[in-house]
Amino acid sequence: MELTKLRRQFPALMQQVNGQSPIFLDGPGGSQVPQSVLSAMSAYLGYYNSNLGGAFFSSEKTVDLLSNARQAVADLLNAPSQEQIVFGANMTSLTFSFSRAISREWQASDEIIVTNADHFSNVSSWRQAAEDKGATVHALQVNDADCTLDLAQYKQLLNSNTKLVAVTYASNTTGSINNIKHIVELAHQVGALVYVDAVHYAPHELIDVQALNCDFLACSAYKFFGPHVGIVYGKREHLEGFTPYKVEPAKDIIPGRWETGTQSFEGLAGVVAAIDYLASLSALPETTPRRQRLSEAFANTKQHEMALSEYFLTRLAEFPDITLFGISDLTRLAERTPTFALTFEGIAPRDVSEFLGKQHMCVWDGNFYAQGLCEQLGVMDKGGVVRIGCMHYNTIDELEILFSAFTALFNRP
Ligand SMILES: Cc1ncc(COP(=O)(O)O)c(C=O)c1O
Repeated sequence: MELTKLRRQFPALMQQVNGQSPIFLDGPGGSQVPQSVLSAMSAYLGYYNSNLGGAFFSSEKTVDLLSNARQAVADLLNAPSQEQIVFGANMTSLTFSFSRAISREWQASDEIIVTNADHFSNVSSWRQAAEDKGATVHALQVNDADCTLDLAQYKQLLNSNTKLVAVTYASNTTGSINNIKHIVELAHQVGALVYVDAVHYAPHELIDVQALNCDFLACSAYKFFGPHVGIVYGKREHLEGFTPYKVEPAKDIIPGRWETGTQSFEGLAGVVAAIDYLASLSALPETTPRRQRLSEAFANTKQHEMALSEYFLTRLAEFPDITLFGISDLTRLAERTPTFALTFEGIAPRDVSEFLGKQHMCVWDGNFYAQGLCEQLGVMDKGGVVRIGCMHYNTIDELEILFSAFTALFNRP
């Protein structure tokens, strides 16, 4: 789909703030949302707001919606069945509850691997579960040069005591993508499970949980153009085999046994619409199976995002006073998302984001809960980094304006 037409679907991108078009480079903190998602959410609340199991139309509609949402996510992740899709408030809450259940049988001799590339949702949950059982937690480092995981250290850490590897698909700070298929293969060789955080990866590339062969994979719809809904995929044997903490009268069948309380049904309506929006970015006819359309759509958006990365990295080379953490090699654009972690010589990250924010350029500064990474990079107590996060709706023109602002920033009186 043509970029101008695509952008018109997002009310946020079309608005004027003090007579100016805002530039959203804050996608990794939460993407903007197309009108179709807003309409689906408001239609659910406006006409069908109900709960599951009633003998009347709006409740029946809600049952259908839940099933449609599971199927839409199963298509997005290539899950073998919709029973393997669990919904919750957000990725963090779901990961805490999965970590409690998975760790029930852990012992003091067991070992867990977390990584320095991860958001702490996928670190603290496992670390605290391990602490309760006296199990050992190892933190896998990143390679300083490109912020990818140190696979040599990973191989050294893995052994027959390793119970679980918690790893991010892509860093929410540097954009570096990890080779999850390989990480899973190595973990499975020693009998360890792998819990993948795909929150940052999901808006950028199509996920295939069957090809990855991961045991669990978590993501969050507000990062892929939808509302605030958390999602976990699990292998059937694990969703059936582990015992969740649940309310006693609630049914003990998957996936519901993993879902506490009432779901955000309006959120689920938005999730379906977000996935349909993504599928609509393909040129294939609407009658084509959704997974196939998603596959073509993500191939298109990846190409555009790589062009954004190429422009960004090329222009960045003009600024010797800006340091980039992560992959800078133009021949490796496929191995990163268009998310860039920067520090500015002599200017604090917050000062940079405030300078840009005054011109309605939305960028985040800080550590983004990627605490291990920011500590390893030595920026934790310096305000972290400035994160420029592009999504498929961003344009080269917007990046041009950003670089003009960088020039103005260094030339301030
Ligand atoms: C990589 C990554 N993982 C996990 C999370 C937490 O997700 P949620 O806000 O859905 O709990 C975030 C949020 O920023 C994230 O960027």
